[in-house]
Amino acid sequence: MKMMEQIINETAGYVRDTLYNDSSGHDWWHVYRVWKTATKIACEEKANLIVVELAALLHDIADWKDNNGDTSVGSRVAYKWLCRFPDLDQSLIDEVCFIVENISFKGAGEKQGCLTLEGQIVQDADRLDAMGAIGIARTFAYGGKKGRLIYDPSVKSLGNMDQAAYVNNAGPTINHFYEKLLLLKDLMNTNYGKKMAKHRHALMEAFLTEFFEEWE
Ligand code: ADP
Ligand code: NI
Repeated sequence: MKMMEQIINETAGYVRDTLYNDSSGHDWWHVYRVWKTATKIACEEKANLIVVELAALLHDIADWKDNNGDTSVGSRVAYKWLCRFPDLDQSLIDEVCFIVENISFKGAGEKQGCLTLEGQIVQDADRLDAMGAIGIARTFAYGGKKGRLIYDPSVKSLGNMDQAAYVNNAGPTINHFYEKLLLLKDLMNTNYGKKMAKHRHALMEAFLTEFFEEWE
């Protein structure tokens, strides 16, 4: 157990160093929150904690959206990192890397991949951090970083985008609520995720109502 703890700590240190200064909402504190939430859900669901913790820590180590849509870039970086620990079984490494490669939202028109319980848990924790007050803050940080407008009434939100349309979409940040964030509530996997998502969803709806009232 001591050895696993050390692997988790070293991995956390590596991710912290790599993502500390990210200003797109995928910074170390995002990963930290996902890690803690995922750990909590994993205990409730009696899931494999080591798989959940490593996948949560490594899930944003490299972003396919910043790498020409290469959806395996994150799992390749994660694989390389995990191979430095001779005590980790190959099957555990593969499990973690599969999660890293498959939890990301890739457009409302893409069907959801099949995930293990551990993957579903990390996905819920990641998606909860995209919702609510923190989710709102992260979304505008991401939009600013990508040079997007806050809102432009002449640009309509796009429904059912496939992966290519989703990654190339340069619409205003408010549209992202309709293209992804408001859909997450119904995509939750676990009971904890469903429960937490309700409140965070309501908060985003209240924010949007207020936003449009002020706009008018
Ligand atoms: P996932 O974890 O499913 O891969 P992303 O990395 O795509 O999710 O998104 C994480 C967060 O980054 C989103 O919840 C949102 O806050 C922000 N984000 C992603 N894409 C956009 C976008 N097109 N416009 C505004 N914010 C975005
Ligand atoms: Ni994330």
